[in-house]
Amino acid sequence: MGVDPNVSRRTFLTWYMAGLMTATLVAGLAPILVYVWPPAPPGQKNAKVKATPDTPLSDLQENDAVRFKSPDNAGFYMQDGGGDNSKGDIAYSGYAVKAGSQTLFFAVNCSHLGCSINWVKDKTRFECPCHGSRFSIQGQVIHGPAAFPLSHLKAETQPDGTLLVDGFIQTPGAS
Ligand code: FES
Repeated sequence: MGVDPNVSRRTFLTWYMAGLMTATLVAGLAPILVYVWPPAPPGQKNAKVKATPDTPLSDLQENDAVRFKSPDNAGFYMQDGGGDNSKGDIAYSGYAVKAGSQTLFFAVNCSHLGCSINWVKDKTRFECPCHGSRFSIQGQVIHGPAAFPLSHLKAETQPDGTLLVDGFIQTPGAS
């Protein structure tokens, strides 16, 4: 019994078109996916980076903030950005804040030109020592020249009061 040439040609065309559409879809989506999940630069490995706040998170009071730093061989990835900051940029330090029963995590970098902001407890706000920008405890600009909010970090609180922050660990031997 022979193969119907019309059927096999139709089958071939169906698979050919499906392959073509898949290749087009992958080619079109790849640049978007790279933006959503940026690959780690050479010498870096995506990781949950352990960070120890200056005081345990369990002691963090409402309307207060505490700073944490990355280990020497690691850093944190900003989750969003604006101004000098962009999603995927690296921060080496951050703040955990408790505001409105929520715990938020911010990169330490001012959105104006990247100086490290300071928490001013008695004014319940962040201040940048470089050009005077101020940010609310929610990370919103309350005084320029910064025009964009603080960048968020993605962190999980651990039972021992430490954090696991999305970032990278330098791979051994990489400079
Ligand atoms: S870098 Fe912060 S105000 Fe300019």
